[in-house]
Amino acid sequence: MLNIIVAIDSEGGIGQENCNTKNGLPWNIKEDLQYFKNLTENNIIIMGRKTADKFKKPLPNRMNCVISSNKEYRCGEGFIIYSTLEECLKDINVSDYYKLEKPLVFIIGGAKLIEESMNFNYLIDKIYLTIIKKNFNCDIKLSGLITDFILERCNLVEKIEKFDKDSNLEYYNEIYSII
Ligand SMILES: NC(=O)c1ccc[n+]([C@@H]2O[C@H](COP(=O)([O-])OP(=O)(O)OC[C@H]3O[C@@H](n4cnc5c(N)ncnc54)[C@H](OP(=O)(O)O)[C@@H]3O)[C@@H](O)[C@H]2O)c1
Repeated sequence: MLNIIVAIDSEGGIGQENCNTKNGLPWNIKEDLQYFKNLTENNIIIMGRKTADKFKKPLPNRMNCVISSNKEYRCGEGFIIYSTLEECLKDINVSDYYKLEKPLVFIIGGAKLIEESMNFNYLIDKIYLTIIKKNFNCDIKLSGLITDFILERCNLVEKIEKFDKDSNLEYYNEIYSII
């Protein structure tokens, strides 16, 4: 039922605490943003509270779920807030939207929420990893739990090497499925 989609740099970095770019990412690869959009549009995305804070507005044409342990937490209209990932997944599972439309469910980050999703690794179907071949000196990094999970429990089913002319960045789009 669950998919994970995340972009990392050459050191496993996913973000910078003080990054103020529009999409919250230290890099800007238009084609990879389009790849993310194509996969997640008309589906369900689940994000950690800090990622939602960076986005400010929900991403269009997707059900935007946010996980925060803070019961007082409020974010922009269009986000659906849950106290735990478990609560969110249960709610999705019983919703008519999920039953009728059969959307895909994506955990889209950040690092903390992806780490939490390892508690539900038996639900994971695919992992979409973009690996950028440059060190962005990120202070937020993907947990070793998921890299271990990929090494031990996943098969690489697709790997496409890409080059973005605008940013002069080489990167890979990799897709893993569970063994
Ligand atoms: N490279 C990429 O593909 C990518 C993707 C997404 C995000 N990012 C970047 O990643 C950074 C944010 O990542 P992050 O790891 O610092 O934060 P995060 O995972 O986005 O959010 C962490 C917060 O989510 C809530 N949370 C997570 N798991 C929870 C659980 N099981 N139960 C209850 N609440 C839970 C907590 O919120 P409360 O503190 O409110 O309880 C926690 O502080 C940003 O810079 C963002 O731009 C990068």
